[in-house]
Amino acid sequence: MEELVIEQAGSYIESICQHSSEMDEIIHKVMKKDMYTYEHNNRLHGYSIQIGEKFHLSKDRMEKLGFAALFHDIGKINVPDYILQKPEKLNEDEFEYIRMHPTDGKNIIPKAYLGRIGDIIEQHHERLDGSGYPYGLKNEEILWEAKIIAVADSYDAMTTDRPYRKAMEPNTAMQELERLAGIHYEKDVVEVFKSVLMEQGVIGVLAK
Ligand SMILES: [Fe+2]
Repeated sequence: MEELVIEQAGSYIESICQHSSEMDEIIHKVMKKDMYTYEHNNRLHGYSIQIGEKFHLSKDRMEKLGFAALFHDIGKINVPDYILQKPEKLNEDEFEYIRMHPTDGKNIIPKAYLGRIGDIIEQHHERLDGSGYPYGLKNEEILWEAKIIAVADSYDAMTTDRPYRKAMEPNTAMQELERLAGIHYEKDVVEVFKSVLMEQGVIGVLAK
């Protein structure tokens, strides 16, 4: 199982495992803590790279986007299990742990990998209209890479079974992203992600 999942994550995870025992340790901590988060991080890596390629981001930005996607939720290591698994709505105190995970993630990433990666991780729950967390940043205050991860993250969360609800169909999830494009999510990112999923036959032409 472990080998299979690492293979799915592609060359990034391999090179990290080869070159940094510190990163390897983090990856295994996440895997041990919560398999969903671990697999979700890996899927996010794939989606984000596909979106980034469509935008023709530079090699350097693509590399940062890939690392940030792979590690965007590592801050959840600090969230108690019962909160991650809770099927009911979280209370304010419980949600405070969730609110902290982007900044915790930034702080966990070893300094050698930081650069903009930490900022991307910290901003992946910010929303264009300022309704996100941890800082309530708006529009241009949010890094482009964080906007890409936000769209892919929300899509993946909607299309997989969660403790609080069943998975949505891809078309329905895309309609929800389109409804919130320009409000929560960057319009261009949603559009590009839609074209990626259509090309792969994951969603149909009816998703409008
Ligand atoms: Fe997250």
